[in-house]
Amino acid sequence: MRYFIGNWKMFGVPKSIGILNKINNFVQKDKKRQKYKVIVAPPFTLLDSFSKYSNNKPVSISSQNCYLKDGYSSNTGAISAFMIKALKTKYVIVGHSDNRKEGDSNLILKNKVIHALKNNLKVIFCIGENNKQKSANQTFSVLKKQLYESLSSKFNANNIIVAYEPIWSIGTGKIPQDNELIKTINYVKKILYSIFKTRKTIPVLYGGSVDSRSIKLFKDINEIDGFLIGGASKSSKNFIDIIKNYYR
Ligand code: 13P
Repeated sequence: MRYFIGNWKMFGVPKSIGILNKINNFVQKDKKRQKYKVIVAPPFTLLDSFSKYSNNKPVSISSQNCYLKDGYSSNTGAISAFMIKALKTKYVIVGHSDNRKEGDSNLILKNKVIHALKNNLKVIFCIGENNKQKSANQTFSVLKKQLYESLSSKFNANNIIVAYEPIWSIGTGKIPQDNELIKTINYVKKILYSIFKTRKTIPVLYGGSVDSRSIKLFKDINEIDGFLIGGASKSSKNFIDIIKNYYR
């Protein structure tokens, strides 16, 4: 099973449901649809309408974040996993580098994962090193720390997906070299095994400058279980072309 996840970030208004509709129509008719799962992550403002639309359709909906407290609270502007689940949204992205940059620590992210899982949301947990860390050969130690400090063997591994997104690759057009990427993905899988000790492997996705052209470079890398796509997911054509080119 492969994942194609579109992270819209700060993009989309109510009429953007037309993009979701086109993606869904493609998946519904695609003969290869059993091989993959498509998830779209719109901003909070569209979660309700998109989740309603996606009921009984192949494309699922993800939130882009959730708050560090659950239930209801007096935090202005905050949205909890409980509130997201109430919309019948199925997934939540936790730990995106955008949010880490704005202050989400590994401990805060651990709380978010706990609340998300408690509410039966599936978690797309993002990790990744920045340029400086990569240059200093710290990639593995950074990823290890991000995983160890936020995930725990007590968590339900069946509801966790990990997305490796090197920060230097996000929105830059720069992508890791094949051999480097394979080594990193295998390392992440090794760490996940050491945390969860489960034979059921947690999917590990790649994210960073994936588009309809670069996808061709990734399709032979069997270790990658799917893709988290930013910029190219905001156009139905670009997003669909990524799936088409992956299986071509
Ligand atoms: P781009 O695909 O625009 O590089 O973004 C990747 C990303 O951050 C997805 O979460």
